[in-house]
Amino acid sequence: MDDIRIGWVGLGARGLEWVHILRSMRGYRITALCDPIVALHERALSLLDNRNQVARYTDYAAILADPSVDAIGLCVRCREQGALAAQALEAGKHVHAEVPAAHTLEDCWRIVVAAERTGLVYQLAEQTRYWGFVDAWRDLVAEGRLGHVTYCEGQYLGYYGTEIFFQSPETGRFCSVEELPSHPDAKPTWLHLMPPIHYLPHELSPMLKVLNDRVIEVSAMGTRSPSYAHPEIGQPDIQVALMKTEKGAILRMVTGFTQPVPHRDHHWYQIIGTRGCVEWRRSESERPKMWLADSGMHDAAEVDWRFERLDAASEARGSGHGDADYYVHTAFRDVVLGTKQPEFDVYRAMDTAAPAILAAESIAQGSKLLRVPDFRPNESRPAGHLPEEV
Ligand SMILES: NC(=O)c1ccc[n+]([C@@H]2O[C@H](COP(=O)([O-])OP(=O)(O)OC[C@H]3O[C@@H](n4cnc5c(N)ncnc54)[C@H](O)[C@@H]3O)[C@@H](O)[C@H]2O)c1
Repeated sequence: MDDIRIGWVGLGARGLEWVHILRSMRGYRITALCDPIVALHERALSLLDNRNQVARYTDYAAILADPSVDAIGLCVRCREQGALAAQALEAGKHVHAEVPAAHTLEDCWRIVVAAERTGLVYQLAEQTRYWGFVDAWRDLVAEGRLGHVTYCEGQYLGYYGTEIFFQSPETGRFCSVEELPSHPDAKPTWLHLMPPIHYLPHELSPMLKVLNDRVIEVSAMGTRSPSYAHPEIGQPDIQVALMKTEKGAILRMVTGFTQPVPHRDHHWYQIIGTRGCVEWRRSESERPKMWLADSGMHDAAEVDWRFERLDAASEARGSGHGDADYYVHTAFRDVVLGTKQPEFDVYRAMDTAAPAILAAESIAQGSKLLRVPDFRPNESRPAGHLPEEV
């Protein structure tokens, strides 16, 4: 196979960003598009030179049945996004899926088992793990410069206005809380129901890469639903998870998307070990910091770590999210075309989804401590089989 013939599913804002990158990337050919909102088809087609050769679907089962599609690019935002990924694998398509991987543990298992049974590629398009500073921190931890890592924090406090919470199912147009009275066709989106803590892939993916670890236990708390900031929105403003990893570190992971925050990096990270610590910048006027116990340092020093990689390919520059968006697509392409082994495999992908799903479950059960399954095959669960208890 020279080109991956990819069928694009989900033509919202993120789907368009993907089409924009992939239309000129070596190794990809977009052969089909799918979204139940017909009004969104034309703006995606208008980006493509080969639009007359691109099939258009409103029905997911129909794009899965299309023999001119080798792989599905999944850019949907709905409760079933994990089930849709599994369905595509079961239909014989490789899957390149946007975050989060899934919203239920059952869907996580279904993806894992389908990938194992078919041998097809499942790639979660989590891009922050390709940031320059993430590799720098991973190397510091691997070299033992921070000692034994005891504590790690990650947070995603983002505010994109209230527009993402209401949408017209006919036109696909989003509308804000303020616009609602003049847009009676707008309906609440899945984000009213989605626990914000489900959106932890951009915290767990990079930090578990740095720590080379996985979460084994989780407990969580959240503020009330609906939002204090915008009572029209069903989401709590803040959810916080405390997690323990296999190597014995404690993680504190936070999400919130309904209250105003400064227009700066929405993500923040910190790692503390027995011999030193690193932390991301608190504002754009600062730099990240590092302190090493055995380096004669009285205080933490600023380090010019950035999102952008020093070794970035020229095509990566400007691709989005500090150039990182480019790398998820080369990673998927290279694994499907067989030129590279997967670095972020299906098991690591589920390591970013399951703790978040269980954090929300913990909140629902009064902060109960819950065990996180290991999705890798073992003696009691051979590859291709579901575990006895899901
Ligand atoms: N990695 C990142 O930085 C990043 C950034 C933004 C969004 N995202 C992710 O990308 C995805 C899409 O985000 P968005 O902002 O474009 O959302 P969106 O709601 O604007 O678009 C999603 C589209 O999917 C379509 N859709 C829903 N269910 C479908 C189905 N069963 N079959 C076909 N189409 C279906 C909807 O009609 C909609 O047009 C989400 O999963 C989101 O979490 C990731």
